[in-house]
Amino acid sequence: MSASLPVAVLASGTGTNLQALLDTVHGAEAEIVAVASDVPDAPALERAQARGVPTGVFERATHASGEQRDLAMADWLAGQGARLVVLAGYMALLSPAFLDRFPAAVINVHPALLPSFPGLRAIEQALDYGVKVFGVTVHFVDSGVDTGPVILQRAIELPDARDADEVLVALRPIEHALLPEAVRLFAAGAISIDPENPRRIICAA
Ligand code: GRF
Repeated sequence: MSASLPVAVLASGTGTNLQALLDTVHGAEAEIVAVASDVPDAPALERAQARGVPTGVFERATHASGEQRDLAMADWLAGQGARLVVLAGYMALLSPAFLDRFPAAVINVHPALLPSFPGLRAIEQALDYGVKVFGVTVHFVDSGVDTGPVILQRAIELPDARDADEVLVALRPIEHALLPEAVRLFAAGAISIDPENPRRIICAA
């Protein structure tokens, strides 16, 4: 069996997606070697600590700039051996300097079918628009807001949805399946870029 992939997770909030990774790929295809947050009391940090995963807090206020914060965080994650960085509800924008440290190795989970409804309050945006199909996207992170190439997407029809909580309940299990699936594919070396269209990601497994 090949060695498992060292993964870092960034999370600002509750951390249910981190928990899904801890409960599935951690200790198997992947090893979560670090969890970092911009929020000192993020419940995600407790989830990591409960599994003995090292945690770090990198607040904007304690660094000269957002880029300095990101570089300090990148140094720590690289020191922990991370080869893939997973954003699981990380609410701060990452600077290009951070992305340069992990080229083509930062992924994010977003609760909408991108390119529709990027950014904050994606579910509310979708409800306001009146869509009948909702969904989840896992994508590579680039310097834009939810603009990187799509790795996996899964849709769900909710033609009568009126309320964000109701949509969130439907999307949660999809997020918690899709993000570990993307990490498994990455760990297996099964994700590549279509040479004819660099926006198109090919998942081979
Ligand atoms: C998820 O809905 C994810 O799609 C978005 O932020 C939320 C994080 O939830 N990027 P959790 O902290 O993993 O529970």
